[in-house]
Amino acid sequence: MPTSTRPPRIRKAIFPVAGLGTRVLPATKSIPKEMLTLVDKPVLQVVMEEAREAGIEHFIFVTGRNKQVIEDHFDMAYELEDSLQKRGKLDILAQLRAERPAAGTTSFTRQQEPLGLGHAVWCARDIVGDEPFAVLLPDMITIGKTGCMKQCMEVYKAAGGNVVAVEECDPAIAHQYGIVGVGKEVSKQGFRITAMVEKPPRSTAPSNRYITGRYILQPEIFKILEKGERGAGGEIQLTDGMVSLMKKQPFHGMTYNGITYDCGSKLGYLQATVAYALSRKDLADAARREIAALLG
Ligand code: UTP
Repeated sequence: MPTSTRPPRIRKAIFPVAGLGTRVLPATKSIPKEMLTLVDKPVLQVVMEEAREAGIEHFIFVTGRNKQVIEDHFDMAYELEDSLQKRGKLDILAQLRAERPAAGTTSFTRQQEPLGLGHAVWCARDIVGDEPFAVLLPDMITIGKTGCMKQCMEVYKAAGGNVVAVEECDPAIAHQYGIVGVGKEVSKQGFRITAMVEKPPRSTAPSNRYITGRYILQPEIFKILEKGERGAGGEIQLTDGMVSLMKKQPFHGMTYNGITYDCGSKLGYLQATVAYALSRKDLADAARREIAALLG
């Protein structure tokens, strides 16, 4: 593809973190669900690293009340770093410093009321401005050889437009998810989306590919979300906004080569913890031994 026709680079990503996390109460009574840990890292940090791997340069967090710890987590912890230095714990100190986002690369805005994912994304409109951007749902953890957002970028580079990551599910449970219709191939992992339905009634889903929580969107979505139309559950749904935008712009599906876990549910969080430990070089062997021992 000649350079001039390449779609503009995706520099910014939105992380909507203003939800209440009711499915994993009481854990989320005083801790944001995005700060629950996978072994030693908050879920949100794991997802942020996925965005960084995909080339994202600016990280936008849409937070709510009781979410201040998120801002603290991505800040410099001066007293802690000083103590680690004095105690000679230089390895972990170096790790904390390397993982800290550079000055000026994070933004925080508040969604005053949790009116839905579409509304949370809209809250970041001024920080994003008039350029395409990524959205990563931080309670969805993706584990694969390369990150899900990086794979989305490949489809975006090849086909442009809007990109939505999907995975196959058991057709019997398709009614629980946002499902896309599958059209012609546009790249190795990419295909044209022909339809998009949030929680289709049983046996009416256009396919078994469900939306997993990674998106590349064009800024025109903000004008649509601004209308504040309510959808399923009385919430301003991102899927409804995308369905409207689909009438004007192409949407491409990216079938993720990896597995997505829903850390917002009890069992999904447990699965994610085990899968994450097994994916880490420094932990995998010991984790496998311990899990085998537990299973007897
Ligand atoms: P969920 O629907 O899974 O989050 O939204 P929730 O509402 O916190 O979960 P439950 O159902 O009560 O357990 C997916 C993502 O969108 C964010 C959430 O924080 C989560 O990361 N979200 C959702 C918002 O930021 N604002 C909202 O109004 C809704």
